[in-house]
Amino acid sequence: MLFTDALVLLSLLIMVFCIARYRQHTNASKGFPLPPGPPGNIISGNIRALAQDEAHRTFARYRKEYGDLVMLQGLGSKILVLNSLEAMNELFDKRANNYSTRPNFVFAGELMGLNQTVTMMPYGQEWRALRKLAHTALSPAQVKKYHGMEEDVAALLCTHLLESPERFSDHVRTSAGSLMIAITYGIPASPMQTSYIIDGERAADFFTRAIDPGRYLCDFLPFLKYAPSWVSFQRQAREGRELLFGVRGVRRRPLEQVKHEMEAGTAPPSLVHTALLSPPNDVSISQFEWRVMMVAGDIFGAGSDTTHATLLAFIMAMALHRDKQLKAQAEIDAIIGNSRLPIIQDRVDLPYVNALLKETMRWQPVTPTGLPRCSVDDDFYGGYYIPKNTTVLPNVWAIAYEPNEKYNPESFLPERFLDETQNIPDPITWAFGFGRRICPGRYLAEDIIFILMASILAVFDIFPPDDGGITQEFKRGLVRAPNPFQCRIVPRPSADLKFVQARAEQSRTQ
Ligand code: HEM
Repeated sequence: MLFTDALVLLSLLIMVFCIARYRQHTNASKGFPLPPGPPGNIISGNIRALAQDEAHRTFARYRKEYGDLVMLQGLGSKILVLNSLEAMNELFDKRANNYSTRPNFVFAGELMGLNQTVTMMPYGQEWRALRKLAHTALSPAQVKKYHGMEEDVAALLCTHLLESPERFSDHVRTSAGSLMIAITYGIPASPMQTSYIIDGERAADFFTRAIDPGRYLCDFLPFLKYAPSWVSFQRQAREGRELLFGVRGVRRRPLEQVKHEMEAGTAPPSLVHTALLSPPNDVSISQFEWRVMMVAGDIFGAGSDTTHATLLAFIMAMALHRDKQLKAQAEIDAIIGNSRLPIIQDRVDLPYVNALLKETMRWQPVTPTGLPRCSVDDDFYGGYYIPKNTTVLPNVWAIAYEPNEKYNPESFLPERFLDETQNIPDPITWAFGFGRRICPGRYLAEDIIFILMASILAVFDIFPPDDGGITQEFKRGLVRAPNPFQCRIVPRPSADLKFVQARAEQSRTQ
C-alpha cells in the first residue's frame, strides 16, 4: 500500500515537473520550435554523435536532411550545429552580445582550471583584459616585426629537411613551436627551447583529451564534480592542473625564466618582457603576472598545433598532387629565381601559392567544428527557438565541402580560388572563427604558413613514398592533424643548396 502511494506521488510529481518544464519552454519559445535534429537514444539523446570520429562529416550530412541548424540533445544538454556561413555570421558577428561566451566544461574548465585561459574563459571583463594583451603581440602592425624571424626559421627548416627529410613532421613542429616561443618569451633556438617545445606537446595532448566530448561524464552530469579526490577523473584533473599551471608547470617555467633574465638585464624583447614592463594599476602584480602567463601559454599552445597541422596537410597535398606542386614551383621560380629564398613580402606576387594556401586550409580545416560558443539568452533565428545555455558549434567543414558544380569539394584544386566566375568563400573568412572571439593569431598564422610553404616549395620536391600510397587519416581532437604518414622530400635539382645552408647559418648567428 505504502509502495503504491509512493509510486502515485512520484508519478504526479514527474507530471507536474514535465508540465512546468513544458509551460516554461512554450512561454520562452513563443511557440517557435527548436531546430530539428536526428532522433536519439532515450538516455543520452544524440549528443554522443559529438564523440564520433569525423563528427564534422556527419553534421555536414545532416544539413541535407535538417537544414542549416541542427539540434542535438541529451542528458540535459542542447548542442546546436551551424552548417552555413550565413548562420555563423548572423549569430557570432551580428548577435555577438549573445554568442561570445564559451560553454562551461566541468572537467577541463572547472576541475583542470582551463576556464582561466583566454581560449576557454567566459566572455567578460577578465577575458577582455587577456585579449588586449594578446592583441599587443598579434596585431597586424606588430606581426610585421616578426617577418625576419619567420624567414630565419624557414631557412633553418630547409636545412633540417636536407639532413633528415623523413623527420619532416618533427621539423615542422619545431619550426612552429620555436617561432611561438621566440615571440612570446624571446627564448632563442637552444636545448632550453627544445625542452619547452616538448613540454608544450605534453600539455597539448592533455588539453585535447580534457575537452574530448564524451570522455568525462562529469561534463554531462555536473554534480559529479563533487566526487572525492581519489576518483580517477579528479586525479587526472589535478595532474593536468599541475602540468599546466603548477610551480614547475609548462606555463610557469618560461615565464619565470623571462623574469629572471629581466632581473639580470639580459631579457630579449618578447611579449612577456614588454607586458611585464608596464603592469596596469587596477590589478595586483601577482594577478597581472597570472594574466601574462595565461596569454603567453595560450599563444604558444594555440599557435603551435594549428600551424603544425596545416603544414602537414600541405605536405600531404603536395605528395598527392604533383601537378599542383609543379605549378606553384614554376611561379616561385619565375618571380624569385633560385638565388634567394622567398620572403613574406613576395606573397602579393605569388597568386598561385596563395591559392594553394587557401586550398590547404579548405581541404583539411584544422578546427572543423570550430570552438564552441554558448548562448547567454533565449534567441530566435530562421523560425527556430534557440534556448539560453545552448552550446553552439560552427561546423566550418560544411562550408569547406559545400557542393560546387565546377570544382568538386573532395578534390584538391587551388584553381577554385583564382576563378572569378565562382563565389567560393575564402577560408580566411571562416577558418579562424568569428566575431569577438575570432582567432587573434590569424595574421601571424597566415605569414608563418605562407613562408614555410613557399620555402619548402622553392627548395624541395615532395613525392609519395616509394613503397606505396599515402594514408589519409587524421587525428581526432580539437586540432585535426594528419596521422603520421610517409613521403619523400628531396632537394630540387635547380636548388642552390650552398646558398640555403649559408642563409640558415646567417639565421643561427643572428
Ligand atoms: C592555421 C592556424 C590557426 C587556425 C586555423 C586557428 C583557428 C582558431 C579558431 C577557429 C579559433 C576560435 C575562434 C572562435 O571562437 O570563433 C581560434 C582561437 C584562438 N586562436 Fe587561433 N588559429 C590558428 C593559429 C593561431 C595562432 C598562430 C595563434 C597565436 C599566435 C592563435 C591563438 C588563438 C587564441 C589565443 C584563440 C582564443 C581566442 C578567444 O577565445 O578569445 N591561433 N583559433
